[in-house]
Amino acid sequence: MRRSLRFLVPLALALAAIAYAVVPLVDELTLRWFVRDLDIRARLVATAVEEPLVELLTDQTRDRIRVQRVHAFLTRVIKDERLFALGYCDAFGARLYRTELLPSEVRCPDAPAAAGVAGRLVTHARGSLHVATAPIVLDGAHLGSLLIVHDMSFIERRSADTKRYVVYLFAGIGAVVALITVVIAELSWRGWMAGTTALIRGQGLTGQAPSHARELRPIARDLAALVQDLASDRRARDEAQVRWEPEALRRILREDLKGDEVLSVSNREPYIHVRRGDRIDVQRPASGLVTALEPVMRACAGTWIAHGSGGADRETVDATDSLRVPPGAPEYRLRRVWLSEAEEAGYYYGFANEGLWPLCHIAHTRPTFRTPDWRHYETVNRRFADVVEQEARTASPLVLVQDYHFALLPRLIRERLPEATIVTFWHIPWPNPEAFGICPWREEILEGLLGSSILGFHTQFHCNNFFDSVDRYLEARVDRETFTVSYGGEATEVHRYPISIEWPPAPLAGQPPVAQCRADVRHALGLPADLLLGVGVDRLDYTKGILERFAAVERLLEVEPEWHGRFAFVQIAAPSRSSIDEYQSLEVRVRAAAERVNRRFGRPGYEPIVLRVQHHDPSEVYTYYRAADLCYVSSLHDGMNLVAKEFVAARDDERGVLILSQFTGAARELAEALIVNPYDTEQSAAALHVALTMTPGEQRDRMRSMRALVQEFNVYRWAGRMLIDAARVRQRRRLAARVGGRGGLDPTVPLR
Ligand code: G6P
Repeated sequence: MRRSLRFLVPLALALAAIAYAVVPLVDELTLRWFVRDLDIRARLVATAVEEPLVELLTDQTRDRIRVQRVHAFLTRVIKDERLFALGYCDAFGARLYRTELLPSEVRCPDAPAAAGVAGRLVTHARGSLHVATAPIVLDGAHLGSLLIVHDMSFIERRSADTKRYVVYLFAGIGAVVALITVVIAELSWRGWMAGTTALIRGQGLTGQAPSHARELRPIARDLAALVQDLASDRRARDEAQVRWEPEALRRILREDLKGDEVLSVSNREPYIHVRRGDRIDVQRPASGLVTALEPVMRACAGTWIAHGSGGADRETVDATDSLRVPPGAPEYRLRRVWLSEAEEAGYYYGFANEGLWPLCHIAHTRPTFRTPDWRHYETVNRRFADVVEQEARTASPLVLVQDYHFALLPRLIRERLPEATIVTFWHIPWPNPEAFGICPWREEILEGLLGSSILGFHTQFHCNNFFDSVDRYLEARVDRETFTVSYGGEATEVHRYPISIEWPPAPLAGQPPVAQCRADVRHALGLPADLLLGVGVDRLDYTKGILERFAAVERLLEVEPEWHGRFAFVQIAAPSRSSIDEYQSLEVRVRAAAERVNRRFGRPGYEPIVLRVQHHDPSEVYTYYRAADLCYVSSLHDGMNLVAKEFVAARDDERGVLILSQFTGAARELAEALIVNPYDTEQSAAALHVALTMTPGEQRDRMRSMRALVQEFNVYRWAGRMLIDAARVRQRRRLAARVGGRGGLDPTVPLR
């Protein structure tokens, strides 16, 4: 209705203006036409009357009789309904005869009337009169003038009728025009609204504007460019200006996200309760995901939903299966989800870790896909979606979905909470389409992930692989300029968010000085105090290149005998996924490799490889980092690798050398590390030698530069950028809802 008025009111005003301009014009024209008619009529009357009148005037009968005759004649003539009165004036301007109604205002002409008839208008108490004066001539001599008076009231009547018809006509035309205008306006308004709404949502910007909004395409293009510029401007400006620390995240949550609730979902929980005899201990798992997400959740104070995998987990939750963590200094809620052994075997060990994990890592371990595993994977994803729905206090929470355990979860959440903003982060690499294509459920996985509002990877290379996979296996539109995939009328932004660690890292607090860490570790390992130490910290996983690392140490000792007894490498290997055959056999091979090297180059009191296959808490790990002269990260393929960043963060003495595999995401950022191909044993051994002989000055220069980078690009920035992007998506949705009014959003296009 309001929209119709926007068109009707201006239209009515325009019509009124037309009517007020046209009606007086019609009045004037009709008057002019009728006066001209009356002039002609008067001339006819004069012509018809002249001869009998002259006869009567020149009648030689007595004056009284003549007067009566002339008067009777004139009275007869005015029987015509239009003739109002007649009069006759002599040549000297004296009125000799008049019919009854001739008004006194109608005077005789001062001079004899000229040839022809001249009409004029006279206003009279009864209305306007048309007065014409016609000369009466006998044999060329001017006898007098005939006054012919016509009543003009009929003109006014007709003019009023005409005006009425004109007004009706214009009102009619106006109504029809208004109706057509409103209909056209409404139709095009809807088209524009749908188009504009799509633009605001970003679909138009990706070429997804509804086809009927063709006229919006140039605007869409300009808008896309503008949005891109503004977004990158804003990112650049914001990122450069913000000090990335917990308060920055809290500010984004407060100001950009307006305090919206944050739910995070991952398979691995940040705190695992395990029973040791009568005691219940809390363990911090070795997980890059947990390392990164934990500080973020502490800052966001939301709810973290995860699999309760610890033996004593059920004993430590409340009635809602949750508890406040970190233990002792609670800052957020951990909601545990329980899985049966069969579910854990199928979903976690089977599909996630025997299927997707090797599929996504190029580590030459064959993925195994089993249908029962897939069924469990589906069931568990659905279970978590139900828990997200239960936990959500609002209809539009911000849900952060983590990793390859939950490829189906984004779409399942979208079905349950259509207004949620879902940000999914894939913590591992994404393979090329050929490699990905061997997964029997590749379409389902892509469709599941495309339920996200935003999907993040560590590197642009992984984003591109994802685009290529979507292009290859789905009927979707991929826009690499705006980093968007549109599928089934929904848009998902795909961005690069390189993950990192908190700065300063919590485990650094309370660490003894580096010199003391060096002494303590060497003492604890039974190694000489002046021995140079290398360190490796990993889950015992075939993607980490632990065997290749040992081969490099072995080769170093072969080609550089000076290091015999002067260099040792300590490998901290957290047991991981140990019920999977591949992991069991890896442990056997790793142990065997360490023994072989130690047999070859060890001696009493000295083992070149110190292998510690056991769980270490973060603060113990940091002590090792500080005690070491070098850290070797030799992953065969790794999304990012946070060990590299942790080592850098631990070295506040600006000493120590990082040797880093070129196949990690971290190698793209930490250019001052010694970058190696871990498959190339010679090169890796040479890098070890370079590291061990690097001058303190060079170590400091490299370390200083890497520390500055990790400090600046820390995990708060990683999370902050995702939160800012999520806030932008939410703001766009709110704007689209506002522009669209009550029903402005196309119900067939779910809100993201
Ligand atoms: C990688 C994955 C994480 C996982 C971690 C530890 O970093 O991306 O999702 O938590 O490995 O593996 P686990 O299977 O023990 O959770």
